Amino acid sequence: SFVAQQHYPSEPKLNVAPLYFNASSQEAEVDHRHAYLYSASEDEIPTVDYLLLFSDDPVQRFLALENLRQACQEYGFFYLVNHNIPGEVLDSVLKGFSGFCDPKTIDERKVFGKSGPSDKIRWDLNSSAGENREYLKVVAHPQFHSPSNPSSLRKNIEEYHKAMRMMVVGLARAVSKTLGFEEDYIEKEFNLKSGFDVMALNLYPPNSRSKGAIGIPEHTDPGFVITLVQDVDGGLQILSHQGKWINVHIPHHAILIQLGDHLEILTNGKYKSHIHRVIVKNNEVQRISVVTLHGPALDKFISPSTEFVDRENQQKYQGMTYKESLEANGGDEIDVQSSLEKLR
Ligand code: SIN
Ligand code: FE2
Repeated sequence: SFVAQQHYPSEPKLNVAPLYFNASSQEAEVDHRHAYLYSASEDEIPTVDYLLLFSDDPVQRFLALENLRQACQEYGFFYLVNHNIPGEVLDSVLKGFSGFCDPKTIDERKVFGKSGPSDKIRWDLNSSAGENREYLKVVAHPQFHSPSNPSSLRKNIEEYHKAMRMMVVGLARAVSKTLGFEEDYIEKEFNLKSGFDVMALNLYPPNSRSKGAIGIPEHTDPGFVITLVQDVDGGLQILSHQGKWINVHIPHHAILIQLGDHLEILTNGKYKSHIHRVIVKNNEVQRISVVTLHGPALDKFISPSTEFVDRENQQKYQGMTYKESLEANGGDEIDVQSSLEKLR
């Protein structure tokens, strides 16, 4: 994509894996090409301690905020620990969705079949070319939507989203401070009170059932931040600022935070969103992830803040409402097309 060309000029050539093959054998040639395309490094991803961001001890708080600033500026993604959301809340939504995807009840899911980009509830099975996933999309805020059946799943998703949203508002306060603003800066700029949150509950089949190596092709996601939990480790890969694919291994009951396109726009590129993808070729078992795009209010006009624009840092993005920017990307928040390119 355009973003990749801008920030990562020689991707994927920087991504050559160590070559563990005998170059004379034909089979090894194939392995090599595979490694070239899909291998990723085991580089460390920073960890942010949520509780420490709000510590009463000013020194601890300062250090935690500095750690968050670094994670945002130098990476743009991090593991969040001590986030206060009970492990059962994370586990039940993963388990509930797994039950929802029981092959025996496929007909019940079909009623939520794809209707259009602005649908509020959707269930989809490997519909897009080059994807290997089954997913449930729900718009969770400002109005909560979910299949009402089974009611336990609805309850799990609602409870999960409520807890996650509360955590994200706290995170917005901390991120505002790392940018040198008052703590309510992001809440106001994005009007988070009416923020547009979309969830994608994804199921990736084991490689024995998949039709290719890719679960979701590379993309960036719109919004302020994206929160992600999973039941089984492995498959998600993020492209670093340095143009290196990194395997994500979320610690137990931690949450992966990725910065969204609209934080990049607001900060005129100081904090960047990231290209990521999902690989299924190594999955021996199915994997479930629950991904929430926490966005600004649909009618909120988002443009680079003047604080980040000067002679050396020209304005990189034009201003538009969140709704218009989703439409510029094809209108579908969770469509993999999503790219900052069209917002410039
Ligand atoms: C994942 O399932 O791990 C990521 C999904 C996404 O990028 O939206
Ligand atoms: Fe994504």
